[in-house]
Amino acid sequence: MLTRVAVLVSGGGTNLQALIDAKARGMLPNVEFSLVISNNPDAYALTRAKQAGIPTCIIERRGKKRETFTQLICQTLQDAQIDLVVLAGFMVILSPQFFEAFENRTMNVHPALIPSFCGEGYYGLRVHEQALAYGVKVSGATVHFVNAVADGGPIILQKAIAVLEQDTPETLQRRVMEQCEWVILPQAVRLFSEGRLRVEGRIVRILEES
Ligand code: GAR
Repeated sequence: MLTRVAVLVSGGGTNLQALIDAKARGMLPNVEFSLVISNNPDAYALTRAKQAGIPTCIIERRGKKRETFTQLICQTLQDAQIDLVVLAGFMVILSPQFFEAFENRTMNVHPALIPSFCGEGYYGLRVHEQALAYGVKVSGATVHFVNAVADGGPIILQKAIAVLEQDTPETLQRRVMEQCEWVILPQAVRLFSEGRLRVEGRIVRILEES
């Protein structure tokens, strides 16, 4: 059975591109990217989606209450009969009603090893600035199911890399993206599409290939 996936974006969309490329390589045979939603009409991610032939939709947050915005997103996803929602650099926090409707069907990629450098206010380059300022020797990325607590849902996959002496926030961000985010996000989507993720409380069990 085909898993209908929607990807929510706000910016450059390199994680969306990693998903599109994984599909093109044949790594996601059971997945259809059915919709890309952006809150930002200027997001380059929209161009990437169009180039890949994926339908797009813009829903702006501006001037709307969080609940109204969330309701619009939910309705759009339900109308498109989406099975899995991927937050890939989506920079708006949705209200809890979303996580009730899409519980264990929404995943997010975060550019740090949760529970470090996560939660409200930790996004984009800021995460890497904080990691370097703290002096950690490893960092990485996490893909997790999303619940009402910011970056607090059950962890699906993580990948770590070494922090180098000469790293700047920009170089660390780049390596975390290339070596971690773009690797584990397609893997997590594949596992979901194969029905191999079982959530038990806050633990995600990865089932053997059948
Ligand atoms: C990625 O590094 C993603 O992990 C991060 O924003 C970037 C988006 O890049 N997300 C967060 O910080 C969410 N807390 P992209 O638009 O090129 O995929």
